[in-house]
Amino acid sequence: MKQLIQNLTETFSPSGYEDAIRDLILAEIKPLADETRVDTLGNIIARKGEKTSNGQRVMVAAHMDEIGLIATHIDEAGFVRFTTIGIPFPRYLLGGRVRFASGVQGVIGSEKPDKKNEIPPVDGLFIDVGALNKKDCPVNVGDVAAFDRPFVEMGTRLVAKSLDNRAGVAVAIETMRRLGGGPNEVYFVFTVQEEVGVRGATVSAYGLDPQVGLAIDVTPAGDTPNSIRRDIALGKGPAIKIKDSQMLADPKVVAWMERAAEKAQISIQREVLTSGSTDARAIQLTRSGVPTGGLVLPCRYVHSPSEMMDYGDVENAVELLTAMLNGPIDLG
Ligand code: CO
Ligand code: ZN
Repeated sequence: MKQLIQNLTETFSPSGYEDAIRDLILAEIKPLADETRVDTLGNIIARKGEKTSNGQRVMVAAHMDEIGLIATHIDEAGFVRFTTIGIPFPRYLLGGRVRFASGVQGVIGSEKPDKKNEIPPVDGLFIDVGALNKKDCPVNVGDVAAFDRPFVEMGTRLVAKSLDNRAGVAVAIETMRRLGGGPNEVYFVFTVQEEVGVRGATVSAYGLDPQVGLAIDVTPAGDTPNSIRRDIALGKGPAIKIKDSQMLADPKVVAWMERAAEKAQISIQREVLTSGSTDARAIQLTRSGVPTGGLVLPCRYVHSPSEMMDYGDVENAVELLTAMLNGPIDLG
């Protein structure tokens, strides 16, 4: 699965521009799914299994987009001003490198470089693509860029851009590989435009009308020096969403997840997140409502070019999701 995660994280696909990641995922899942299609917004919908009398129609969403930047203005000297797609933070942008869809690379610089200890806002930053002047600049207004950083392994840790949420995508793909013969009809949906407000999940959940919903995504770890107080650490297992800023996970779904973890002897953590949300919110609120939860992977430095996870957590997430989906789903 490491090679798969490397391929996924090194692919360029900010929200709204998911073509490259979609092609990669489709090639990977075509042999695993019973049926695949791509909807109008670009979500991949892949069915695995057929519903029997004690089965359910389940939607498992993993967003495939990543945060990015979009050019707003090129000045006379050839520097590119930009706004954000999703929420990349200025502190993680400064000094970084980005790549445009065309392959053009750039360095992020800031105004007032003498203010060494201040982090400028996004409109105090610019991308330097090495242009000599405006005419020479190969970037147009509206061109889209993403972090440009290779995947690396550090002991048991994985480091890459867009582990949010390509690690979740990898968990979904590996679970598809292992599922078989159960009573459920599972729709694995690789969603677009999550980072700009769960837009792909909104339309795909409406279309599928699932009986149970789950999103796979990341959750910020609180285990670094002087971090916020959060009981989420790398290497202690995948986490089960209880609450985030826009959703209360269905307690029946939480109980099902915890029972499955206990039975499979997988250690888990419980997530209460005070900012941010996931595709699960869109699934839960579709039509007349769907019992929904979230399986989230502990991650350090979320939305930076060097997000970090523990490989064991990723593997255990696959184990847990497989255990949850292989048999009848009892929501009591
Ligand atoms: Co994110
Ligand atoms: Zn995410």
